[in-house]
Amino acid sequence: MSERFYVTTPIYYPSDHLHIGHAYTTTVADSLARWHRFAGRDVYFVTGSDEHGQKIQRAALAKGVSPQAYVDEIVASFKNLWEKMNVRYDDFVRTTDDRHHRAVQAVFQKIYDQGDIYKSSYEGWYCTPCETFWVENRLEDGHCPDCKRPVELVEEESYFFRMSKYAPRLLEYIEEHPELIQPETRRNEMVNFIKSGLEDLCVSRTTFDWGIPVPFDNKHVVYVWFDALTNYLTALGYPEKGELMEKWWPADLHLVGKEIMRFHTIIWPIMLMALDLPLPKAVFGHGWLLFDSDKMSKSKGNVVDPLVLIDEFGVDPIRYFLMREVSFGQDGNFSRKALIERTNADLANDLGNLLNRTLSMLDRYFEGVVPEPAASPNAIDQALIDYANSLGSAVDTCLKEYKLNEALVKIWQLIGRGNKYVDERAPWNLAKLDDKSELSSVMYNLVETLRIVALAIKPFLPETAAKMWSQLGLTDLDEKSLSDVTWGLLPAGTQTKKGDPIFPRIEVEKETPVAPPEKKPEAKKESAPVQEKPEGVLIGIDDFFKCELVVAEIIEAGPIKGADKLLKLQVDIGSEKRQIVAGIAQHYAADDLVGRRIIVVKNLKPAKLRGELSEGMLLAATSPEGRLELVSVSDAIPAGSRVK
Ligand code: MSP
Repeated sequence: MSERFYVTTPIYYPSDHLHIGHAYTTTVADSLARWHRFAGRDVYFVTGSDEHGQKIQRAALAKGVSPQAYVDEIVASFKNLWEKMNVRYDDFVRTTDDRHHRAVQAVFQKIYDQGDIYKSSYEGWYCTPCETFWVENRLEDGHCPDCKRPVELVEEESYFFRMSKYAPRLLEYIEEHPELIQPETRRNEMVNFIKSGLEDLCVSRTTFDWGIPVPFDNKHVVYVWFDALTNYLTALGYPEKGELMEKWWPADLHLVGKEIMRFHTIIWPIMLMALDLPLPKAVFGHGWLLFDSDKMSKSKGNVVDPLVLIDEFGVDPIRYFLMREVSFGQDGNFSRKALIERTNADLANDLGNLLNRTLSMLDRYFEGVVPEPAASPNAIDQALIDYANSLGSAVDTCLKEYKLNEALVKIWQLIGRGNKYVDERAPWNLAKLDDKSELSSVMYNLVETLRIVALAIKPFLPETAAKMWSQLGLTDLDEKSLSDVTWGLLPAGTQTKKGDPIFPRIEVEKETPVAPPEKKPEAKKESAPVQEKPEGVLIGIDDFFKCELVVAEIIEAGPIKGADKLLKLQVDIGSEKRQIVAGIAQHYAADDLVGRRIIVVKNLKPAKLRGELSEGMLLAATSPEGRLELVSVSDAIPAGSRVK
């Protein structure tokens, strides 16, 4: 990868407000841009709005306003959304900008002058929502094969672009530069599309006027896709061959959704060939974000407004979810439940707890001041240090391959290791020793782990990194770079400032009643003896799976008045908090239980014990001497994980 990175998003249609699917692409582009800047690369990040065409003109007409007034209002909402999502672009191209008019007209004129655009007439099909021409044999039951909506018959005089002439050259180019079209599955689709025969493309319209006029024929406006694709050059000052063009063209990466790959990997490269400009280095076609497994669309009423989510959850849980939940390139699913589960498990439990418990212990043992790492590292320390030291380049490699979710998994592995390290090194035991050198090292290592985590997540979750940085008592976060993701740069003596939890747990509204309606007891068959303990009886795997066993973290534990064998526990089972009453008071002190991760039966019918509701049962085993021990797992396994 070169040390410069020009990345673009598609420019969005301001026919309507943006939904979470649009925010997906732009969040990814922003994180990539931020990461490469952090890694010391020169970055240029461009987004914008695709404001012309029949679809917008009709939408404005329906609202009774001019197209310009219509788009001005919606484009302002795009910019507001990007601001709220902490998207920091370098340029925003509006296709109604004068500079863009100049660029599009220059492109059209040049290609016309060299004989690759000619006048003829078009008679065929058009999908207005997709702004796409279709030849009859590609339609599906008379509908657009992409959006499945009805197409319209169009008959008009048009200019045509000689795409067919360039098809063999494009195929050859793709063969020599397979990295142009990513991921590979999309490359195969595109190659097949070209091989099935490329028609010349209609590149002007005459039946409406909301567009850029063809420079030498005012009756025509330029076809909206020909207009829109040019934005990637507009941002660089084209047609001037100035410093920006010199420095940034060809683009390193066009990020686009899978349904607009054809425009970016066939029409756009051919336009560039005709302009005698180099082709972009990569076009990556990502999948769709579905809503409860269905495509988001206004007509289905299932579009999710990112601004509403940000107000409710904050921006970083949304950014994290978008990049972590979906394997980039594939379709992914958005649901409120999944967002809450991710936030609680990864952000509140794993990251939030590591920060919170580390700074609490540091307050307790060293008045919040980072001690010297006095003792030499043992094998457990060294494993943590080695992993942390390898993290920067591991994440960098993932991002060069556009594997954002893998990058986040790698960072969360360090967080998981940090939590496990607390259990393994048990600072509370080291604190009992007279010699505090080992305790000092362990606490230093934990804070240092958090410093490295904060740096590594900065490009993905900028607000969280800043909050962590301030709790860690550190300054100059903006000046830090990938080279600071190196073990040992945390200065001993730093005064930390433990604050509120950075991700308070989100309580889940219960969807089912606490106690399911009682079923009428079935009449007992006289002849069948009731088996109290079905020992020796074999069950099928299906029977086992009826029992939903999950990891639960004990958040609170306390006595129940008048019941000396019972304890009342508040546990976190990932998706929600529950109360469990357990007969363990004679084996465990309530205080020793907090923070422990145990196994509970989640789908046990709720019951009342001594007037207290119990919504689950915990697993324990008893020794021959009668000592009861809870079945536990380490902190590496998040609350809510299924046990099977
Ligand atoms: N204006 C054109 C792009 C021109 S680029 C030169 C356009 N605009 S769009 O607003 O309809 O869509 C823009 C992008 O948003 C596309 O890449 C599309 O795939 C993406 N998405 C729209 N809905 C989406 C999801 N539900 N999930 C993921 N991406 C989605 O096409």
